[in-house]
Amino acid sequence: MEKRDQLYAGKAKSVYTTDEEDKLILLFRNDTSAFDGKKVAQLERKGMVNNKFNAFIMEKLAAAGIATHFERLLSAEESLVKRLEMIPLECVVRNIAAGSICRRLGVAEGRTLQPPTFEFFLKDDALGDPMINEYHIRSFGWAEPQQVEAMKALTFQINDVLKSLFLAGDMLLVDYKLEFGVYRGELVLGDEFTPDGCRLWDRETREKLDKDRFRQDLGDVVESYELVGRRLGLTFD
Ligand code: C5P
Repeated sequence: MEKRDQLYAGKAKSVYTTDEEDKLILLFRNDTSAFDGKKVAQLERKGMVNNKFNAFIMEKLAAAGIATHFERLLSAEESLVKRLEMIPLECVVRNIAAGSICRRLGVAEGRTLQPPTFEFFLKDDALGDPMINEYHIRSFGWAEPQQVEAMKALTFQINDVLKSLFLAGDMLLVDYKLEFGVYRGELVLGDEFTPDGCRLWDRETREKLDKDRFRQDLGDVVESYELVGRRLGLTFD
C-alpha cells in the first residue's frame, strides 16, 4: 500500500490517497482541539492510542454486522479505510445528558435520557456545526430520506453494541458522534470512534474518561484514553 497525496487535514486526523483509488489512509495525529479549534494542544501518544482504539471499536462493530470503512491497521498511527462519499452530517446519540444539550435545554448533567435522544448537526466548521433537523436535511438536500432513516437506525444499533461493550468494562457510554458515507451505494460508518468523539464515565464514580478531560482541564487526558482501552482488553505499547 503506497501513501500518496494529502487529501485533507482535519483538526486531529489527516487523510491521504493511496495507489488504490477506493482506499485512503487515515493518520491519527497528536493534535487535540476543542471549542471549534479555540483550544488546541499536542498530546503525546494520543495519535497511536486513538488509532488502535478506533481499530478495536470498528472491528467490534463489523463483528456485530455493521458496515464500516475500516480495513486494517497500517502502522502505530495509520489505518487503511475505504474511500467514502461523506454525508456532511454528524449523528449524535445521548444516553445521559452532558455537554451542549445541558447548555441548550438547561438540564442537569448526568440526567438519564430515556429513551436515548438523537440529534443531527451540520458538519460545517465556519458555522460551528449547528444543530439541524430532518426538514433542513431534506430541504437542503444534504442526504436522501432513506439515508436519514438508515443513519438513525445504524446509530441506535451501534448504541446497543457499544453500551454493552463499555458496561462490561464498568463504563457508561454517555454520548457519541458518528459520521456516515456511501461506498458502492451502501451506507457505511466512516470517520472514527475514539474518546475524542464520545463521552465515557466510570460506572461507579462517574469520573470522566474522555475528551472532557481536555475541555475541562482535568489532566491525564491520554492516560484516561489508555485506561478506557485497557478496561476493554486493549494494550498499548
Ligand atoms: O458538544 P456536544 O455535547 O453536542 O457533543 C456530543 C458528543 O459528540 C460528544 O461526545 C462530543 O465529543 C461529540 N462531538 C464530536 N465532534 C463534534 C461535536 C460533538 O465528536 N464536532
